[in-house]
Amino acid sequence: MTIDGHTKVAGIIGWPVEHSLSPAMHNAAFEALDLNWVYVAFPVAPEGVGEALTGLAAAGCAGLNVTIPHKQAVIPYCSSVSDAVEAIGAANTLIPDGDGGFRADNTDAAGFLRALDAAATIDLSRAQALVIGAGGAARAVAWALRSRGARLLVSNRTDTKAAALGPTVPFSASALDEACSSVDLVVNCTSLGLDGDEVPEDLPLDGLRSGQIVADIVYRPGGTPWLAAAAQRGAITVDGLGMLLHQGADSFTQWTGAEPPVEAMKHALRRAT
Ligand code: ATR
Repeated sequence: MTIDGHTKVAGIIGWPVEHSLSPAMHNAAFEALDLNWVYVAFPVAPEGVGEALTGLAAAGCAGLNVTIPHKQAVIPYCSSVSDAVEAIGAANTLIPDGDGGFRADNTDAAGFLRALDAAATIDLSRAQALVIGAGGAARAVAWALRSRGARLLVSNRTDTKAAALGPTVPFSASALDEACSSVDLVVNCTSLGLDGDEVPEDLPLDGLRSGQIVADIVYRPGGTPWLAAAAQRGAITVDGLGMLLHQGADSFTQWTGAEPPVEAMKHALRRAT
């Protein structure tokens, strides 16, 4: 790819952001469609979020992703927000509003549903789901599942945060194992399982059953130990790579107006991990 005077610049802000897989994914997408765009990672410290957004908008930045810890902090600096952002309270995609600012969207929610649809067949309007966690990712997943009519149970280390999302289950493996027996879908939205080779002791294990759908939004090459254990028990598993891929594909379309080259993006993610 040749960078010239016409090249459009998109990117991601986060702190830290060097580990992000999004540059590899989006640059592969631009290349696959021969678009004169480039995607870069911008490390932005928490105190610099407003200044960074004003500057990037003024310099004609053509699209942004937002990652930890800025997903909430960007909202006051945007000219408008989507219904998803309003409901979830977090944004991961900023689109130029044509008037010198950005509008905010949350594609994590739609990305989760697309990843789920790609991996399993489930009528969510008749399903009950157990969401573990109550941070930004859990709020996106809960909103997405509810938008399809699912009933939810929520469990979180900090119980008050879970209670804000729905009926709660105590945060212990035994209570979660019991809850698993009545749900069709279990989603881990905590960061548990990101490190280490053991299944985290707070996550349910014995309660998982064959045919149940088990999703982990944490992504690790080869899957998290918890997801591997669920697969061993015959569960249909959905890993975090699908959500990462599909939230990115949705952002890509909002910036470029083009159909996302999903296979090229998936391939780039696999290569980058
Ligand atoms: P994200 O935007 O990725 O969801 P977050 O908003 O920081 O990040 O939320 C992280 C989630 O993981 C929360 O549900 C958090 O629980 P608390 O609300 O009690 O903080 C959960 N989490 C993180 N580390 C955890 C741990 N060691 N044990 C249990 N839950 C943990």
